[in-house]
Parts: sequence; C-alpha cells; structure tokens
Amino acid sequence: MNANLLIQNATLPDGRMRHDVLALEGRIAAIGMNLTAPEGTPTIAANGQLLSPPFVDAHFHMDATLSYGLPRVNQSGTLLEGIALWGELKPHLTQQALVERALTYCDWAVAKGLLAIRTHVDICDDRLLAVEALLEVKRQVAPYLDMQLVAFPQDGLLRSPTALANMKRALDMGVDVIGGIPHFERSMAEGADSVRILCELAAERGLRVDMHCDESDDPMSRHVEALALQTHRLGLHGRVTGSHLTSMHSMDNYYVSKLLPLMAEAQLHAVANPLINITLQGRHDTYPKRRGMTRVPELLAAGVNVAFGHDCVMDPWYSLGSGDMLEVAHMGLHVAQMTSQAQMRQCFDAVTVNAAKVMGLDLDGYGLTVGCNADFVLLQAHDAVEAIRLRANRLCVVRRGRVIAQTAPLLAQLSLPGRPAQTAWNLPR
Ligand code: FE2
Repeated sequence: MNANLLIQNATLPDGRMRHDVLALEGRIAAIGMNLTAPEGTPTIAANGQLLSPPFVDAHFHMDATLSYGLPRVNQSGTLLEGIALWGELKPHLTQQALVERALTYCDWAVAKGLLAIRTHVDICDDRLLAVEALLEVKRQVAPYLDMQLVAFPQDGLLRSPTALANMKRALDMGVDVIGGIPHFERSMAEGADSVRILCELAAERGLRVDMHCDESDDPMSRHVEALALQTHRLGLHGRVTGSHLTSMHSMDNYYVSKLLPLMAEAQLHAVANPLINITLQGRHDTYPKRRGMTRVPELLAAGVNVAFGHDCVMDPWYSLGSGDMLEVAHMGLHVAQMTSQAQMRQCFDAVTVNAAKVMGLDLDGYGLTVGCNADFVLLQAHDAVEAIRLRANRLCVVRRGRVIAQTAPLLAQLSLPGRPAQTAWNLPR
C-alpha cells in the first residue's frame, strides 16, 4: 500500500512555513520549498496549514473501551470502584464483543489522526480472552495503525494468584510490553517486590516495561522510586515507563527534589493521563480538591520524556472521550498550567513525538524528517498552539503516503442581523 504523495505549502510543527513534503514509496523523500514530484503523483494543497506526524497515544485500555454502562455506571467516580466494576464485567466478556468494540475505537482513532496506540490488556482473567482479542485486532489494523500491547495485571501481580503465570503466557502469545500495578498490591513492600520481579522478567526477555505506578493521592506512595532503582540496577535505561504517577502531585517537595534526578538517571519515560487523572483523583478530598496530575513541567525540566495518554474512552473509569489527542493535550495544558508559548508546544509534543519515544517508534521511522515513514495528519490550524486551542479538525490523515481518512473543512455560515453574510472557518468545534 506504500504510495507517492506531494503535500504543498504546509506549516511544520517546528514553525517552518511554506514547505512541501514529498513521499515516495511510503517514505519521506524530501522536505523543502517548491519541490517537484514524478509525473502523476497525487498532490494535496495544505494552504499554509499544519502538517504533523500522526498523533500517538502512549497509554490506553482498549479491552475496556466503549463498555460504558456495562453492567452499570461507576457511582463514586473512583479508580477503585472502576476496578471493581471491571471485575464484574470480565466474566461476561466475549472475544467477539471485545474485537468489535476495539475495531470501532480504532476507526475513531484513525479519523482523528491517531495512528499509534499503546494499549494495556488485563491478564488476570485466566481465559486470556482479552489478550487473544487484542492480538487479533492488532493483526487486523496493522496496515493503518501501530498497536503495542502491555500485559497488565489489573488485580495485582502478587495479589492475584495466577497473574504471574498469566503474564508469562501473555508474553509467550506475543504481547509486547510488561505492565504492573504496584500501588494495588497488598502493601508497599509487596508493591516494591512486584516492581523487582517484573523488571527482572523484562531484563530476561529483552522487553520494555510500562507500569501503572503510584496512581493514588497518597503522598507516601514510593513505587516510582522502586521503578527507577530497578531500571538502573538492571540496565533497562530508556526502556521503562512510569504511567500516571499521580501521587507525585501530593508528595513532599523535598522528596520530589531527590526523586526527579533518580528518574532522569534511569531515563524513565513518564505518562500523565490528564482527562482521567483530573477525574479520578482527589475524590476523597473536600476542599481544596487536588488535581491529581503528576508534575509535568518539573519532569520535563529534569530531562524526563513526558507524554500525555488518553487512558480511557467510555469505560468503567471514564464516561467521555473520543480518541481526540488534542482534547487530551488541551486538558493537560490546563491542569499543568503550561500556558507559555513554549509550554503549549510541549503539550503538542506530548501527544506526538514524546509519545512516540515512549513506544520506541522514533527508532522505527516515526517523524517528519527525510527517510521517515510518510505518515501525517493535516490539521485545520496554522500552528500547534492553534491546533490545541481549536481541537482542530483533521483535514487529511496519511499512512505510508496514502490518504486513509479525510474530513471536510469546518465552515460556519453566519447570517447575522445588521451584518454582511460571512463564512468563518476557524471556529472552535
Ligand atoms: Fe491506565
């Protein structure tokens, strides 16, 4: 399906304007002004709008997506009720329903220019139905979407009697990444043990790690420290991700001043999930209510790669969402108060290039440089900041040089009393 394509007069995320991008045989062959293409090459006029590498979601749960209301709605709005609710739903899951819901979500994702998703998959159901289903989905969507699966022991690696055996079975079946949930183990000590066991398994098998880590409001939760320690001890630098890290929001500042350099030393990646963190955390607070999102600007300043993930769409933990990573960036920007021009651009990076680094896609052709895969999204916005502000329309989504999704430009026809009729294109949705 690799194809040729010339995109003319685009603005690039780094601010370069009036640039053309030439794709040959599915790869970027040239970027510059006034490029020419072989005869017959399809051409897209970008008209000065933003051409970006596709959106990447570094943290998602595709086994639970689109199950909202099954078997009932989360009444307390807490993480723990969500886990209990998911436990009620699990025995009733069927492979067909899992595949259908996941494929529907992938359709939404592609239409939104989201072409790579790291999804956790619960391995605590001994049938491993969800693993089988998502491996099948990964195979089906491979021509247009990169999926990476994380074996996720939702009920605790040590707390759930068959989780470790199931983890190994899932990895043998082809799941890519080792997950964990140390804050859900029975004690802080068992949480640290689970981190050690899982990192040792990753070292043994040469795999990446991505753990739900310290997803609580407990300022004394210390599992990301254990994750940094084991990563450093086992030489897993750059291959390990701490997801959520919400307890960092509540930690003592002195302790964080020690923790950040340890995370940077281990080259940990961090994933915040703004929509979910702001929704699930702080539920035990009266006022003031904590926001619960990890310390994104401070992590970035310490040299830690930070991505924003969507985490949930219409499932036991979150009733909204649409696969729109600009909505995720928009919320992250607000919650972290990242309002300078440079910080707003960092929020765009958090759902594109930084998320690609979490998944290791930067080593596999992701990016907007010559030689990279010709994968793009053309946005109805003139720069990254405007794209976030408007949650911009995706005009065109390209995979390996071929257009795979298009949306008509949003145009509002205004007929206002006392004013000439006009067309406005840059209105928020
Ligand atoms: Fe998650």
